[in-house]
Amino acid sequence: MSGTIVLTGANGSAALWTVRYLLQHHPDKHLILTVRDTSDADANTNLLREALAEYPDASSSVRPLDLSNLTAVHEFAERLVDEVSGGKVPKLESIISNAFYWNLASAMQMTGDGYEKTFQVNHIAHSVLVLRLLGSFAKDGGRIVLFTSDTHWPGKSALEKIKPRIPANLDELAKPPADEPEDHMAHGQNRYALSKLAILMWMYALNRHLQKVCDDSILSEIHLTISKNTRFSNITAVAINPGNLSDSRALRVNTPAMIQMMSKYIIRPLRPLLRFMDPTMRTSSEAGTDVAKLAVNEASPGYRGFLTLLKEDTSSPDSLNETVQEEIWAKTLEWTGISAATAGIST
Ligand SMILES: NC(=O)c1ccc[n+]([C@@H]2O[C@H](COP(=O)([O-])OP(=O)(O)OC[C@H]3O[C@@H](n4cnc5c(N)ncnc54)[C@H](OP(=O)(O)O)[C@@H]3O)[C@@H](O)[C@H]2O)c1
Repeated sequence: MSGTIVLTGANGSAALWTVRYLLQHHPDKHLILTVRDTSDADANTNLLREALAEYPDASSSVRPLDLSNLTAVHEFAERLVDEVSGGKVPKLESIISNAFYWNLASAMQMTGDGYEKTFQVNHIAHSVLVLRLLGSFAKDGGRIVLFTSDTHWPGKSALEKIKPRIPANLDELAKPPADEPEDHMAHGQNRYALSKLAILMWMYALNRHLQKVCDDSILSEIHLTISKNTRFSNITAVAINPGNLSDSRALRVNTPAMIQMMSKYIIRPLRPLLRFMDPTMRTSSEAGTDVAKLAVNEASPGYRGFLTLLKEDTSSPDSLNETVQEEIWAKTLEWTGISAATAGIST
């Protein structure tokens, strides 16, 4: 059997297609598919199980993971590290950080960890997962697929009312000030955009740190004795803008009625026309398939960086600021609590 692929939010609109593609074209992979609700009360998890049932010989497990609970994320990663080191699960080949949260319809929510929920789910929790699982990748490396969006680029999203700008005080990303004036849609969209800008900028820093071969104080802080271990340089991280997905359920979850109506009566039926105005407008099936190809290095092998759909691309000018990327990297270690953890990623 070849490597393990971890996919978060595996019952999501695009993710279901990622799973279908992997089952059909890469039946040798071991899939670890995380969802918030593993029970058969969850209609989307049932769709995932139906997809899996079509490939009874495939090797997979559906596991619960709520990214708004950092203790659960650390425990999930720890267990997987043990399973890999004990030979129960093949070494990792890819982590697909697909799950996401937004809330355009009600007030800002803080998690039990004390962070703003959008930022925790989309950025902090996925960073925990990636950092803790690095040591479980196969010797010849693999791929980390992170998710950004056109919202990271000021002025590109039709829903934008507040431009996404990284604040001078980075802690305001994780613990933002009160919304002023109260406008759930504007602030919720801005929180989403900032989370997608942060994970994009973190990706650039992550790639740099993965490629350093010695004396990296930050990685050694998290017990990665990278000087004796050059295998991380074979892990490539990408951040994809998968496109605007006309049929995603994202438009119907935690969104105001106006967006839900637009989704039903305009965006879905008029997608072929809307594509003329927005060339990234496409279906979840197209996006999910591309993500699977990236995960297994079928698309853009060896590439590190930003992609729009499957095109290797340049992200916004702000996102390319290396000083801020490194500040986000350092602050993310703080938010994740990784340096304090007796992480299972020592090698
Ligand atoms: N849709 C778009 O137009 C678009 C555009 C640009 C970028 N993207 C990015 O593409 C990716 C996939 O988008 P999509 O439209 O396919 O998403 P989606 O259909 O809305 O699915 C979102 C997934 O995230 C999961 N999730 C939400 N909160 C979670 C939590 N606290 N812990 C764990 N999982 C959680 C959901 O699970 P539950 O069902 O349990 O809530 C669901 O599986 C996302 O990263 C998104 O930001 C999407």
